[in-house]
Amino acid sequence: MSKITKVIARQVFDSRGNPTIETEVFVKDISASAICPSGASTGTHEAFEKRDVNNKKYLGKSVLKPIEFINKVISTKLKNINIHQQEKIDYLLISLDGTKQKKRIGANAILSVSIAVKKLSSKIKKVPIYKNLLISKNFKLPYPLMNIINGGAHANNGLRIQEFMIRPDKAKTFSEGVRMCFIVINKLRDLIKKLGHSTSVGDEGGFAPMINDNESALKLIVKAINLSGFKNGKDVVICLDVAANELLKNKKYSIHSKKYTSVENSIENYLRLIKKYKIMSIEDPFGENDWSAWTKLLSQTKNKIQIVGDDLFVTNLERLKIGFLNISANSILIKLNQIGTVTETLEVIKFAKLIGYNTIISHRSGDSEDTFIADFAVGTDSNQIKTGSLARSERVSKYNQLLRIEQELGKKSKIHSIH
Ligand code: PGA
Ligand code: ZN
Repeated sequence: MSKITKVIARQVFDSRGNPTIETEVFVKDISASAICPSGASTGTHEAFEKRDVNNKKYLGKSVLKPIEFINKVISTKLKNINIHQQEKIDYLLISLDGTKQKKRIGANAILSVSIAVKKLSSKIKKVPIYKNLLISKNFKLPYPLMNIINGGAHANNGLRIQEFMIRPDKAKTFSEGVRMCFIVINKLRDLIKKLGHSTSVGDEGGFAPMINDNESALKLIVKAINLSGFKNGKDVVICLDVAANELLKNKKYSIHSKKYTSVENSIENYLRLIKKYKIMSIEDPFGENDWSAWTKLLSQTKNKIQIVGDDLFVTNLERLKIGFLNISANSILIKLNQIGTVTETLEVIKFAKLIGYNTIISHRSGDSEDTFIADFAVGTDSNQIKTGSLARSERVSKYNQLLRIEQELGKKSKIHSIH
């Protein structure tokens, strides 16, 4: 018997110390729980994160009302439904909300229930979570996209670009990839120390030195890669998340300096950086509604580098279809809380695969000890995961879970291919 007997939600805290929702779903005395993450540079088309804005006890940030809704309404509605009927449960939650952006119940409430259901279903089937998702064989580990310098909304150093990442393309296994990143991060720490900057880290665990121009950060990373004995652009490649929504005013962008400039100028600067620093991936190079700017960049980079839609697509099937028709990107960042249920996220991933896009499973800048996305990356056959640096337990926990999965898969544990 696998019928849901109880659903309990509670307020816990995320890695920024903000309140968030943990939901625990029960089948008799067996339970599983999930914690919802939270973004800082959110897209306006994302599903809605509901907070008690008028409750001053937690400065308007508590989530007690959505929790009450789970405990009073959702728990009653889900009672006696088979835990393995993920789609039925998710669509029930969607219809219970009834709004396009999940504004009534809140996507944070809905997602914590949806993930907890998937986890409990796996537990009851006695299979690891990654074996209870899209694929049933040939599991592969994703390439880590490690965010090693934080800027933008994730730090207070004045760096315009939000995330400077590395991807260990030469690695043949996941653990080797993590080792390569480990070396580069250690060399980078030494360099930052030598420059007399603080080696403290930002929200996603990358260093947040007080440097404020993009190229200084890029030069430091290239130096760290060289000092590690790797070749930039080959063994290890540099990837960026610009989060350009934050740098947009009157159709002009302040990506490359504080000065706002045209799309054409911004593209010229991108092309220069791509060539000079051998950048292989750029996420959110332009604003979330600036489809034509994306299309221009993709065509001018001749589809040779990864162009990733995060705020552009917000893990939303309708928006991914628009991007596909406009030839705006070639990869999609996947964040479960941008859409709000496991089922809808899987539908987006299936379509992305159909049109040949890379799928990159991602954390949020406000995250937790929940490691669901590590299993999710493997079980959806996604070739990359972006979950911060080798610092801060809420980031490292995802990499550690992938190391466990790698060991469990044993000799068969291959890393994905990038291209
Ligand atoms: P967020 O940032 O979680 O603060 O939205 C992550 C990203 O932009 O990829
Ligand atoms: Zn992003």
